[in-house]
Formats: sequence, structure tokens, C-alpha cells
Amino acid sequence: MSELSVNHLLGIKYLNNEDIKLIFETADHFKEVINRPIKKVPSLRDITIANLFFENSTRTKLSFELAEKRLSADVINFSASQSSVKKGETLIDTVNNILSMKVDMVVMRHPNPGASVFLSNHVNASIINAGDGAHEHPTQALLDSYSIRERLGEVKGKKVVIVGDILHSRVALSNIFALKTQGAQVKVCGPKTLIPKYIDKLGVTVETNLKKALNWCDVANMLRVQNERMTVSYFPSAREYTQQYGVNMELLNSLNKEITIMHPGPINRGVEITSDVADSDQAIILDQVQNGVAIRMAVIYLLASKIKQ
Ligand code: CP
Repeated sequence: MSELSVNHLLGIKYLNNEDIKLIFETADHFKEVINRPIKKVPSLRDITIANLFFENSTRTKLSFELAEKRLSADVINFSASQSSVKKGETLIDTVNNILSMKVDMVVMRHPNPGASVFLSNHVNASIINAGDGAHEHPTQALLDSYSIRERLGEVKGKKVVIVGDILHSRVALSNIFALKTQGAQVKVCGPKTLIPKYIDKLGVTVETNLKKALNWCDVANMLRVQNERMTVSYFPSAREYTQQYGVNMELLNSLNKEITIMHPGPINRGVEITSDVADSDQAIILDQVQNGVAIRMAVIYLLASKIKQ
């Protein structure tokens, strides 16, 4: 297959296994490019991309911008907090005004689930979802699976546990879709209050005991507790959460095998992961960030080639 089955990247649930393979093979090429002394290719000199961030970001925003610049695209950046959104302008008006400046592609992070799908139905541009509320974060899941493939050879057949605040996590949902599509086994682990009731419908199993979950898995993806999305308390205290669902070196050393530790960031050191684990050779957290640039170059390149047709 040489092209994606989709015109936008709105969520992993819209991709098939062939799409994911194509993105990974394209990212392999771009990973080689960004390790050269000259890290740029002229592929997208005729494409203009707007990065629209209605919610805070460090990794995703910088990684998309770098990926676009490495592909030689023209880039404009929009931050909602410094824009006319503050004066009451709607999302569609904001985007249509930006598109009237001859923009071809929009990368958008938004606090509302479904915002990217909504946009794709109302504007004439290719849309990439850079995280929509607690719904999906497709490029994060792609770079996570790509990093597993890099560390363990392949994703198919691997056992992956996603630990923590599954209920409020777009990373969890996109990872579940990506991992299941590629043939991995997936478990979620956390307090029952932070695990959605429908989770078994997604083909994953639940384990509330962290040590049992870690002894089962090849890879543990540790998630941050998303306090900013909580209106009530889901566990008695941060200290109790850390005691039951935080990973530390003593716990890792007590397991029956060595596992790979992932984290999408931002890390809360000492809460869901201790510094000695986050900075250990078992953790691939900075590899994930580095792979994010190649994955985003691949996604942008593949979607842009459909615009040009
Ligand atoms: N992983 C992730 O989405 O991080 P940012 O919120 O910093 O983009």
C-alpha cells in the first residue's frame, strides 16, 4: 500500500493495520533523514500548515512544528490564549479565517472530544488531531507503538499494560485502538474509579493489582493522573495512589522479568513513576519523544500527498 485510507488523522479508530504499517515504514525513512547532518528534505515546500493549540502542550506542539519544518512546509502557529477566541470568535470562524490565507493543513489540539471530527466536516483542509479532550491522541499512540517496535522488534503478540487514569486519558484510548489493531494483548490497570465501565467492549482486560499486571506484561505505559479533567475525587489521596499504582525501582526489581517502561509525558516524578525508573535503561520515555518527530513527519507527508492528488 502506498497511500493512507484516510484524508485526515482524526483518531486511530479510523486507521487499519496497513495504514499503521505505512506510517511506520515512512517514519523509518524520516528517522534516517533527521539523523543526517542536514536534517531537512524539500518534500513539502508547496504546503502551508497551521498549528492550532486551544490547550497547553510542550511535546506535541514542538514536535509537530519541528516535523513540518524538517519537511520544508510553511508553518503558522496559533495559541488560543493569545487570540480573538478570547473575544468570542467561534472555532469554525477562527479556522475559516486562517484557511482563507491559503492554508492546506490544520493540526489541532482542543479540550472538547470530537472537535477535530467536527472541524473536518465543516472546513476544506486536511485535519490532524493533536489531542481532543479525553477522546483520542492518535500521533501519541503511533509514536508509542513505533517505540515498542523499535525496542522489542514488533508490536504483534506483545503484552502491554496501560496503568493509571484510563477514564480521562486520550492516550489510553488511542493506544488501545493502535495496539489491538496491530495484534498486541492489552490490559489496563488502575483504581476501579478510573477505569471506564465499557472498557471490556474494547477487547482489553482489567487488573487492579499493579504487581500482577507488571508480572504479566512486556511493556508498561504509565499515565499521569489528569487532575485538570476531574471534578470529584477518584481516590482517597495522592499518597495512597502512589503506594498502589506508582512504579518504583524496588517494584521493578521484584518482578520475574525485565519490562519496558513508557510514559507519554508530562511526568509527575514521585507520583506515577519515580525518578530512578524514569531515568533508567528500562524506560524509553525520551525515545518516544524523539520518535514523535519522525512519526509526525510521516503522517504529515502521507496526508499532504493526498492533498496534492
Ligand atoms: N504527550 C503529550 O501530549 O504531551 P504534551 O501535552 O506536552 O503535548
